[in-house]
Amino acid sequence: MKQKFLDLLIDVKEQVLFLQELGVENLAVELPESLIQSSKFKAQGSKPEVSQEKLERFVPAEIPKAERPQIAKSEGNQSRNSILESTKLSRLPSLSKRNSTFSNISNNQTQEPAREKEMPKKTTEEMPSLFGDITQTLPESTETIEDIRLDIGNCTRCPLWEGRTKIVHTTGNFEADLLFVGEAPGANEDAEGVPFVGRAGQLLNKIIESIGLKREQVLVGNVNRCRPPGNRTPTLPEAHTCRPFLMREIAVVRPKVIVVLGNTATQNLLDTKVGITKLRGEFQDYFGIKVMPTFHPAYLLRDPSKKRETWEDMKKVRDYINQMK
Ligand code: URA
Ligand code: URA
Repeated sequence: MKQKFLDLLIDVKEQVLFLQELGVENLAVELPESLIQSSKFKAQGSKPEVSQEKLERFVPAEIPKAERPQIAKSEGNQSRNSILESTKLSRLPSLSKRNSTFSNISNNQTQEPAREKEMPKKTTEEMPSLFGDITQTLPESTETIEDIRLDIGNCTRCPLWEGRTKIVHTTGNFEADLLFVGEAPGANEDAEGVPFVGRAGQLLNKIIESIGLKREQVLVGNVNRCRPPGNRTPTLPEAHTCRPFLMREIAVVRPKVIVVLGNTATQNLLDTKVGITKLRGEFQDYFGIKVMPTFHPAYLLRDPSKKRETWEDMKKVRDYINQMK
């Protein structure tokens, strides 16, 4: 009993530290009058109101590195491992070598109509919005992340290629339960070729850690892979040109939850005009995969008071993933 109580204290302390790291300064919780009444009523000799099960779900289960989340796959493990090995190279200089093999190819050869490559073709084209028919599920993918990378090549399909330094591919654990999707690379990402490495990225790392995960355990990407000039919002044609590659990656990885960050990413991924303020906090469906829209970390840097809501959204994500284990 004493040990349980100590464990609980440690857990609560951790949660408070996470919240502080996220910049949540005010932990005041408004309790409904009825709850205050009933707890007063039960105050003498009553049992704790929170069940053990609830507590366990509240406390993020730290996932040891060795125990990467497993996702059932139709592919054999061997080919899967080779995909993982090759995709991890995205952070290494060897990928620039890979890119350079494309630089010899003329634009005409690499410039295929992007539409043709939109993987969940049947579904996207037939589904006008998320809020219509959601019976569609993600088709089985027969390709690998490597195939998708090769297809992207030294891409010139939309005008954003002209201003980019590096293409910023999806990075992280390609067996993850959780995928984070942003809008497009900024200056730091463009220079490094890795998504979310700037200030917003640092905050994203904290958001990931706040649910007991490490950045390298999840997958992080953007709808657009090239930096728009002056960090402007990608145009709709630009988003629609790049999005198919992310969709194809989603079909390969099949994460349990996709967290979309901010208005642009949410609208471009989900094909909706509904704003983030309306959509955030409620799971949406993306071809059978749960999608949680939440605020963009860059927005949270501008308005830290919104971190609280992102924390609420992330708790739902954590609980959903834990409950599926
Ligand atoms: N903002 C984004 O949307 N994506 C990044 O990769 C970095 C900042
Ligand atoms: N507007 C955005 O573009 N993103 C947010 O996260 C919130 C408002």
